[in-house]
Amino acid sequence: MQKNRNIDIAPSILSADFSRLGEEIAAVERGGANILHVDVMDGHFVPNITIGLPVVKSLAAATKLPLDTHLMISEPGRYAEQFVSAGASMVSVHVEADPHLHRTLMSIKSAGAQAGVVLNPATPVSAVEEALQFADYVLVMSVNPGFGGQKFIPESIQKVRRLRQLITDRQLNVRIEIDGGIERNNIETVVKAGAEIIVAGSAIFGAESAEEAVKELRNATVQWV
Ligand code: DX5
Ligand code: ZN
Repeated sequence: MQKNRNIDIAPSILSADFSRLGEEIAAVERGGANILHVDVMDGHFVPNITIGLPVVKSLAAATKLPLDTHLMISEPGRYAEQFVSAGASMVSVHVEADPHLHRTLMSIKSAGAQAGVVLNPATPVSAVEEALQFADYVLVMSVNPGFGGQKFIPESIQKVRRLRQLITDRQLNVRIEIDGGIERNNIETVVKAGAEIIVAGSAIFGAESAEEAVKELRNATVQWV
């Protein structure tokens, strides 16, 4: 994998203290976070319920960081554009949740945001083959979606490599995001494999200082940036 790529660190607020969300976000901003990852769960597609449109709207007013909304919801096509209107700069939908992926990706783009496709750990890379050319990024889940603080699934590394190869072979301009169980000890490996947007929740907001944790993750990738 070539060097000199832009690596974005995207703290996932799922592990933040929601009663102090403004302060938590200010801390990761000071640490140099590039993107804020927002996990939207509906209690149907995944076995957990988190936050939705009103929170995204408030966040957009509270930070200059681009908001990356990861929709873990059934029928994401019904809501994707609304997340853009609420202030999301990036909206990703699960391939497992949407039989009309092309339509949804196009609607996100025409609403003015970057469109992402997400793969669960057991969903093969081939499931996005035909959607790749319509997407701005692919999010590889390295845990089963639903909860923060789970253990990284090591097979995800090979999956990122295969996806990177496919994108290179097809000469597409699609970024790879990875989400789940990322910490200081594995960030370099996933970056080397080809991931460029690195989501981390518990490794950042579970640390003593979220600001320092962002800096440490960045430093661990520094020779690849
Ligand atoms: C899991 C979410 C992740 C989660 C990551 O369903 O999509 O974004 O917050 O948390 P960690 O980094 O703790 O695995
Ligand atoms: Zn996520």
